[in-house]
Amino acid sequence: MRAERFDTVILGAGAAGMMCAAHAGARGGRVLVIDHAKAPGEKIRISGGGRCNFTNIGATARNFLSENPHFAKSALGRYTARDFLALVERHRIPWHEKTLGQLFCDNSAKDIIAMLRAEMDAVGAELRLSTTLEELERGDNGFRLTLGGEGAATVTCRHLVVACGGKSIPKMGATSLGYRIAERFGLAVTETRPALVPLTFAEDMLAGFREIAGVAAPVRVSFGKTSFDEAMLFTHRGLSGPAILQISSYWREGQPVRIAFLPGRDLLGELRASRQENGRRSLANALAEILPKRLAGYMAERHGWSGQMGETGDRKLAAIAATLQGFEVMPLGTEGYRTAEVTLGGVDTAGINSKSLEAKDVPGLYFIGEVVDVTGWLGGYNFQWAWSSGWAAGTAI
Ligand code: FDA
Repeated sequence: MRAERFDTVILGAGAAGMMCAAHAGARGGRVLVIDHAKAPGEKIRISGGGRCNFTNIGATARNFLSENPHFAKSALGRYTARDFLALVERHRIPWHEKTLGQLFCDNSAKDIIAMLRAEMDAVGAELRLSTTLEELERGDNGFRLTLGGEGAATVTCRHLVVACGGKSIPKMGATSLGYRIAERFGLAVTETRPALVPLTFAEDMLAGFREIAGVAAPVRVSFGKTSFDEAMLFTHRGLSGPAILQISSYWREGQPVRIAFLPGRDLLGELRASRQENGRRSLANALAEILPKRLAGYMAERHGWSGQMGETGDRKLAAIAATLQGFEVMPLGTEGYRTAEVTLGGVDTAGINSKSLEAKDVPGLYFIGEVVDVTGWLGGYNFQWAWSSGWAAGTAI
């Protein structure tokens, strides 16, 4: 087996790994990126419905979950969404802003992969696909790796960067390798859970949701003190849509999620006005004027709201408004890693330097991207963490 020497080896040719390779290579060292997949950046390719929500222009550490909420500040503050946007523009990739500061490619997520490949090529960083890590040891002056598959070799390097992502979507090649390497070198790994994931329900609740599967509505969804105002979608399996994905990162088993339909509106006032306008209108029809029709019918049936508006007193209207703006559901669980966009938790930031992403007690070992206990909201934040942490490690090497 051939023996080779590199300055830096990066495990994982995803968003963080490719970003890191471009910057580590720019500093002049020999860089190798390995991945067991057949193609680099597979999650980039499928992200954002194929158009990659590549950053969020307002990204700050407040948009991330971590046991240390300050950890991400350094990397995010030194390599910002505007820095990544400047790179995208330098490569003449057309983009547009959707709602809430989310930036997407106009054409295809493949533009972002091609850009990262071009950046790697420009600095001579080597990419080996269909290559696995068979053995890893710490040597006198760095690390010794035995690689298998198409890129089989024994490799030594001074810097080893772990960029192998989280556990979500195992079908696409997600593995626990990054966590195992962390533990092996004495770093703690916080509890990991599927996040940005649809919520599932027990059969009694689900039967109702099935009747209105496909209905979407703007809601404020809350868990404890955390709320998101976005769209929610009823599905055959439970609840989904951006609002639900967001709150799933905070939700814990055995506790309810609170849903406010028509958040921020004076619902009681609107129902009273509707009654005054036409007292012969049925309650269900009055609700169908302010909510999607099938949702209004479901809520009316579920709560036994019947009769005409003219016969409905203020107390009942107030109770209806309160129910619609404080509807509690008790999720059974989540759809799990099969559909989760990200993994919450990961390599404990207590063991990592926030500026360089280097392990505090293992010089030369770095952890970047999703494998770290830094998890963003939905909306381009997770890629921004991959770019910022990849940049921070790449420029520190
Ligand atoms: P990433 O998962 O990208 O890369 C890890 C790499 O390591 C992979 O190439 C994998 O093959 C490789 N690897 C894993 N185990 C290995 C092993 N044992 N040996 C060798 N190689 C190994 N975020 C966002 O900001 N905007 C968006 O639009 C979306 N959309 C989206 C859609 C879907 C369907 C998903 C699943 C996820 C998103 N995300 C997202 C999240 C985003 O994709 C994610 O946060 C980043 O890809 C994380 O980047 P990393 O480089 O850390 O891991």
